[in-house]
Amino acid sequence: MVNNKIAIIGAGNMGGALVKGWAKAGMSANLTVTAHTQQTLDRLVEACPGITVMLNNSKAVQDADVVVLAVKPWLIQQVIEEIEPELKDKLLISVAAGVRNERIDVYVMPNIAAEFGKSMTFVEEAAKAETAAELFGKVGLCKVVPQRLMDAGMMMAGCGIAYVMRFLRAMMEGGVEMGFYPDEAKKIALQTMQGAVTMLRETGLHPEAAIDKVTTPGGITIKGLNELDHAAFNSAVIRCLKAGLK
Ligand SMILES: NC(=O)c1ccc[n+]([C@@H]2O[C@H](COP(=O)([O-])OP(=O)(O)OC[C@H]3O[C@@H](n4cnc5c(N)ncnc54)[C@H](OP(=O)(O)O)[C@@H]3O)[C@@H](O)[C@H]2O)c1
Repeated sequence: MVNNKIAIIGAGNMGGALVKGWAKAGMSANLTVTAHTQQTLDRLVEACPGITVMLNNSKAVQDADVVVLAVKPWLIQQVIEEIEPELKDKLLISVAAGVRNERIDVYVMPNIAAEFGKSMTFVEEAAKAETAAELFGKVGLCKVVPQRLMDAGMMMAGCGIAYVMRFLRAMMEGGVEMGFYPDEAKKIALQTMQGAVTMLRETGLHPEAAIDKVTTPGGITIKGLNELDHAAFNSAVIRCLKAGLK
């Protein structure tokens, strides 16, 4: 798969992150990328010198083995019609949220941490899902799931990365109110988040068991935890994740 030629149609937040992630994985020479404007492509080439860029979608698809659609959902149909004559038996992957099209072989839902090889990506079960999983496995963790779990995966990881950032922002704001400068508060919040993630990864503990290790009966941690409960934190997160489900 690493030697396959890949055309990425659309080089914005998601397409750009994928290209940068694949470039970091040593695949630059096999990447051809398109966008609506030359400006976007110039910026991308500066970041990933070995890639090929062009404004012509059909031409980009001509020599590709795999085509990844990373344009906005409402442009998917139009782009498919444009590249159809060149598609033939090429593997057509779409990362567009919530768009179904019979021409698409595999639906994939990555997140923008793909740029750093840290995406949590979901690949919908399909005949060629494993090929897509191998490709997206180059930019992070990749899980093949049945169709019924794709939207849940999108909410937890594709959108979820934004929710995690909102939590971090809230921690920073609390830190600033208590006297830290924003930059310090950010470092503290990130290190604390990383510590929690590492602890759960290394120990395999359930979060609540790890929380018990921090919480002294009658102490101060439980006071904060109970404030979160009074503010319906759990409920808010669950409702947030389900908000995008149809
Ligand atoms: N953003 C995320 O975190 C995320 C996560 C998972 C899935 N997705 C999916 O990824 C897709 C793209 O989202 P995005 O956030 O990356 O949007 P975006 O930042 O607006 O990027 C869209 C890209 O498409 C390009 N484009 C527009 N019309 C085109 C055309 N006719 N041919 C080729 N390229 C064209 C744009 O070019 P210019 O830059 O030159 O205008 C831009 O580079 C969406 O379908 C979304 O559902 C996004």
